[in-house]
Amino acid sequence: MTDHRIPLAGVIGHPVAHSRSPKLHGHWLKTYGLAGHYIPMDVAPADLETVLHTLPKAGFVGANVTVPHKEAALRLADHVSDRASVIGAANTLVFREDGSIHADNTDGYGFMANLRAGAPDWNPADGPAVVFGAGGAARAVLQALAEAGVPEILLTNRTRTRADHLKEEFGQRITVVDWVQAGNVIENAELVVNTTSLGMQGQPELRVPLDGLQPGAVVTDLVYAPLQTRLLQQAEEAGCTTVDGLGMLLHQAVPGFERWFGVRPEVDAETRAAALA
Ligand code: ATR
Repeated sequence: MTDHRIPLAGVIGHPVAHSRSPKLHGHWLKTYGLAGHYIPMDVAPADLETVLHTLPKAGFVGANVTVPHKEAALRLADHVSDRASVIGAANTLVFREDGSIHADNTDGYGFMANLRAGAPDWNPADGPAVVFGAGGAARAVLQALAEAGVPEILLTNRTRTRADHLKEEFGQRITVVDWVQAGNVIENAELVVNTTSLGMQGQPELRVPLDGLQPGAVVTDLVYAPLQTRLLQQAEEAGCTTVDGLGMLLHQAVPGFERWFGVRPEVDAETRAAALA
């Protein structure tokens, strides 16, 4: 018998009120005239397992998971994609009809899709990338850069041991650079990525000299509030191509939406406006 129920999906976080995903998915559902709902769900860590096993029975076809549930969701899933396994966290879940949970991580995909859209001339093979930060966001970026074939990644983090651990996990292409030395290696970079929380509203700025950068280099910031961080302003002044972080958020949502609601959505200016509204 065909199931005619309206598909439900949503984002699970704690807190979740700040999430832009409901606006984004709501915009796409409306744009494509689809029957479906996408709702925010504030779930405490102790309740995650119960919620994940209840949602499929309540008509949910899947969910996004965000902080603090990304690692726990991976552990609770019945099947894990290779990229989610490499990143060590899930952000997109699909509930199959047999009740099993499939976990994926589309953050690295979103990062790369945003970069390719915003800097179409950037070629991964051209040269090294400098990556600031060694947290969860950095893991997704490293997975994407390694998969794209970037020949060398210079990784720097305030707490060096976290970067050293990522090198052990992600391998040969990574050279760890001391946080205070990062300014010295930046002139070789074809790509600079900020994965730290520096530059976010209410946080200190990421301060790094960009004058040595090649004018053709690309600078991207995962921070999207504000959209134009000091890093990106500086990069623009240095004649670099800049890519803001909002697009990563939008692109990472594409595979989940397609899976749950059956249409591959476009990321365009209207999508950006809807997510920011
Ligand atoms: P996420 O999952 O968003 O990456 P995270 O795991 O908390 O979050 O990582 C935050 C990143 O921002 C880390 O690289 C962190 O550096 P540390 O590992 O040294 O903590 C970086 N970060 C946060 N505040 C910072 C600051 N004031 N100066 C330098 N780096 C900072």
